[in-house]
Amino acid sequence: MLLEIEKKIASFIEQVDSSFVQELFAKIQHGKMLRSKLMLAICPKHPDIITLCAIIEMIQIASLLHDDVIDEAHIRRGSPSINAVFGNKNAIMLGDIFYAQAFLKLTSFDRNIAQNVAECVVRLSRGEIHDVVMGNSFQESKERYFSMIEDKTASLIASSAKSAAILANLDSEKYYTYGLNLGIAFQIIDDLLDVFGDEKKLGKPAMSDYAEGKTTLPYLLLYQSLSQADKQKLKSYFRISSMEAKEWISEKMQEKEIFEKTQDMARFFANKALESIEGENNLKLEEIIKNMIYREF
Ligand code: FPP
Ligand code: MG
Repeated sequence: MLLEIEKKIASFIEQVDSSFVQELFAKIQHGKMLRSKLMLAICPKHPDIITLCAIIEMIQIASLLHDDVIDEAHIRRGSPSINAVFGNKNAIMLGDIFYAQAFLKLTSFDRNIAQNVAECVVRLSRGEIHDVVMGNSFQESKERYFSMIEDKTASLIASSAKSAAILANLDSEKYYTYGLNLGIAFQIIDDLLDVFGDEKKLGKPAMSDYAEGKTTLPYLLLYQSLSQADKQKLKSYFRISSMEAKEWISEKMQEKEIFEKTQDMARFFANKALESIEGENNLKLEEIIKNMIYREF
């Protein structure tokens, strides 16, 4: 099924009718297709599900193409990013093509699905803009962090689950809530991996979030457990990429058991996701949660 989705994306990009676009497209590494797996688990049979999955994956690809330009990231999924190889202008325009072509295909879907996906892209963009603004200074508010990751990451996962549920004639709100909480847990684990993960498995340098200006949950939890003097020290390392900063932060993260505390938060949201689909009898959705929470570190 995932292969069929990849083929559908390729055919949608072929329809753009540009050999240069094809050349750029060939350099994009396929991801884990979490959103498609989720949608197929909710709606495995509908004849339009492959197209809907392709649309969602294309929006996801578009957002990452733009995000790598914004973050000035040169590595994506262990390979050079499109902006690194072809420059920012091409990466942005390729993102626009993915985004616009996805929306063109979305117009043939039920109005509820189209509206829900379109609203989600607004949220996605709002999340990204808040992420950038928040990166200008050290952040102390967990509320702002949660609201930003809900927009930036969880909204597309929630919207994917809801769209698939609409297509399958299920109670779409339950699946939306499932997706939203899964998305929050997913981002928390991602933020945790940045601090504690292995560079090879991450496909990017470890501990890069804080050096890039992202005060993620592990840092928020660390900050609130530090003495006044250490709080200032942590703040002084904001946006600094040095061995000294990394070593000090790692040590404090260990000492204050931030790994466990952050993981507990991810589990809290994962359980909320499970609660929302109680009685729906969908073992695959339960498995998706378990696999995500126990991702390798
Ligand atoms: C990755 O965040 C970025 C996102 C999940 C969303 C980015 C959204 C936009 C750029 C707006 C989308 C607009 C359109 C038109 C589709 P990250 O930098 O924390 O994660 P990373 O480590 O994977 O880069
Ligand atoms: Mg990024």
